[in-house]
Amino acid sequence: MNMLELIIKKRDGHPLEKEEIDWFVSRYTGGEIPDYQVSALLMAIFFQGMNDRETRDLTMAMAYSGDCLKLDGIRGIKVDKHSTGGVGDKVTLIVAPIAASLGVPVAKMSGRGLGFTGGTIDKLESIPGFRTDLSEKEFEEFVNRDGIAIMGQTAELAPADKVLYALRDVTGTVDNMSLIASSIMSKKIAAGADAIVLDVTCGQGAFMKKEEDARLLGEKMVEIGKLAGLNTRAVITDMEEPLGRNIGNALEVQEAIDVLKGGGPEDTVTVCTELAAQMLLAGEITDSYEKAVSLVKESIESGKALEKLEILIRNQGGDPEVLKDYSRFKTAPVRREFKAEADGYLQRIICDSVGNCVKSLGGGREVKEQEIDPSVGLTLLKKTGDRVEKGETIAVIHAADEEHAGRAEKDLREACIVGTEKPEKRPLIYGIIQ
Ligand code: URA
Repeated sequence: MNMLELIIKKRDGHPLEKEEIDWFVSRYTGGEIPDYQVSALLMAIFFQGMNDRETRDLTMAMAYSGDCLKLDGIRGIKVDKHSTGGVGDKVTLIVAPIAASLGVPVAKMSGRGLGFTGGTIDKLESIPGFRTDLSEKEFEEFVNRDGIAIMGQTAELAPADKVLYALRDVTGTVDNMSLIASSIMSKKIAAGADAIVLDVTCGQGAFMKKEEDARLLGEKMVEIGKLAGLNTRAVITDMEEPLGRNIGNALEVQEAIDVLKGGGPEDTVTVCTELAAQMLLAGEITDSYEKAVSLVKESIESGKALEKLEILIRNQGGDPEVLKDYSRFKTAPVRREFKAEADGYLQRIICDSVGNCVKSLGGGREVKEQEIDPSVGLTLLKKTGDRVEKGETIAVIHAADEEHAGRAEKDLREACIVGTEKPEKRPLIYGIIQ
């Protein structure tokens, strides 16, 4: 077998055999195939696609490319949650402590930002001192003792996804259904949970722009999860505009804290309530959806969910004072208001452009090794459908310097469309696949 043959085979539209998939996954993970050849194969997969059998084979090859966590020592039904990505998506930071506070052991392995979307690990690392490089022993210990731990992908768990994920991020090969499904499900299978709740986003700020594609992706992942013996369900959520008001790593953690304190933007609260309720159902805390929703609300009102977040932060070396004092986060030195040039309604916020704008501010990576700036980002004072007057502030730009702020302002001028018609409201939740 050689890599050039596989590239040409896929380029010409033929399915790869299981042995071929196993071969390139293990060789690339072992450092035996150069990035440029795997980039070419990924691009061929991007254009030619993979059938369901290839997608399953790729998932399993990646899942078993390293160690698999054995969480048998942890009592209860361990529930993991994963999003297919979005802009302003701080859902994990909210639902993980809620579910944990209600008795669901949350053993979560998360990723970094990818393409124009953010990643939970980058967000958590904006909390001063927070460590995401837990050993498997620490991970298990925290979940057993406190019901919650979130760690980054270790070199040992699904290492194939780790290297492929980073390569896809810089080669324009992220938004392919098979690559997304295998990336997510391989990590979930390796991470050892019993049940998985998937947040499959759809819209301009998601990798799946159309609802039917998001449903298809959800179905593929649920099927793979079930084949691997995991209780898997997917919630299709809207990502036509950024979720909530804050976009950017430290800013998103602050919004998550606001929600756990009983505030926060309505859309973030609605999406998180649904996903947290699904985690309770998957964790068999209750079999009533209504009861699950009321438990989620109670856990916020009683402050229990916020307490869990505090425990998570303390356990993983972070500064818990951030919960009370947001000035303990790194703060961007420049704040610039982006203002409306005309009266009207905010008709659209082109979500992937906003994600790219935050990336260009330094909140995401352009190349694999890039350090990100946790402080930069945007605060949206207006959301789609809101009335705006000329000169009114639509968003606040948090930037490292004036030059970056100026560029972001230009990006936002194109991404935020003001017009005379009030746009129709879109649903936030499109359905559940299980
Ligand atoms: N999240 C992942 O973990 N992988 C993807 O490919 C996309 C989103």
